[in-house]
Amino acid sequence: MKCRKCGAKAALNMRQHRLALCAEHFLEWLPDQTQRFIQKYRMFLPEERILVAVSGGKDSLSLWDILSRLGYSADGLYIDLGIDHGTGYSTVSRQKAAAFAESHMLKLLIVDVPATLGASIPTAARLTHRGAQKPCSVCGMTKRHIMNRMARDLGYDVLATGHNLDDEAAVLFGNTLTWATGYLARQGPVLDAETGFVRKVKPFCRLYERETAAYALLRGIDYVYEECPLADGATSIFYKDVLSRMETERPGIKLAFYLSFLQARLGGFLAAPSSIAASEMHPCPACGQPTTSVDVCSFCRTWNAVRTRREAEGPGE
Ligand code: AMP
Ligand code: FES
Ligand code: ZN
Ligand code: ZN
Repeated sequence: MKCRKCGAKAALNMRQHRLALCAEHFLEWLPDQTQRFIQKYRMFLPEERILVAVSGGKDSLSLWDILSRLGYSADGLYIDLGIDHGTGYSTVSRQKAAAFAESHMLKLLIVDVPATLGASIPTAARLTHRGAQKPCSVCGMTKRHIMNRMARDLGYDVLATGHNLDDEAAVLFGNTLTWATGYLARQGPVLDAETGFVRKVKPFCRLYERETAAYALLRGIDYVYEECPLADGATSIFYKDVLSRMETERPGIKLAFYLSFLQARLGGFLAAPSSIAASEMHPCPACGQPTTSVDVCSFCRTWNAVRTRREAEGPGE
């Protein structure tokens, strides 16, 4: 297989795009694609300040790399969730994110969950009813809260995450199976800013995981290979697997699924994304973040319960 641009040996054959490229041309093509999506979906302007949520994985580190190369002003945010699980998952991810920032002379902000909130994610999950669902529930809610708070408080215009097409297609698949119209209305490359919420964007939403992984490898980015050990058996992994099997039989099906959803939504098949009336939103009396809850927000409620139960348990995890 030869590179379509120069005829040299191809490093990657992307059957879904009927395109094969050598390493050099692939490393040009992916940032070009990213820039095209940033403009197409009006994610942000060159003068805006971006906060990139970096997990230490291939997607978010590649995204940070590409945004900086494209000339955007992008700082990183790493959230240390305190997940150990015998592999030191959070510690290793944090080291990868910090090493990348240092070698590229980029600014990385770190929020340490156990140090600031009083417990790690596994402990918080064990101590609350959310834990019965899976630690991912308390984890996702906590990450969303911290990302929004940091971006808003520090005056960033936009928060960017490394979600790729495989992530987006799996979420879409799950939401479609249950016709979760509220979630479907809000899923997309851009979630506009609302009162108290910063704009959120996913510049990699049209890139296959295989492509972002190839970018990280060919660019020599040192990232954490391991997936979160707590996500083992999660439904999203099952959906990803199903979609990948379909992709093998029908190259391009994942992208078509996602793009035709965006197209159908533009055509008005779902209600406008502002499903929650702005009037229902008010600042949480404890943390100031927007919430629809009559009392404190779910983040404050959960973490207050975690601290109370921890104190009742006494010292030790
Ligand atoms: P995941 O939900 O683990 O697939 O991650 C999706 C995206 O969320 C990543 O590409 C990052 O942009 C962001 N993210 C996940 N975990 C963290 C973390 N611990 N700190 C900062 N950002 C994160
Ligand atoms: Fe949150 Fe795994 S990253 S539970
Ligand atoms: Zn080439
Ligand atoms: Zn709150």
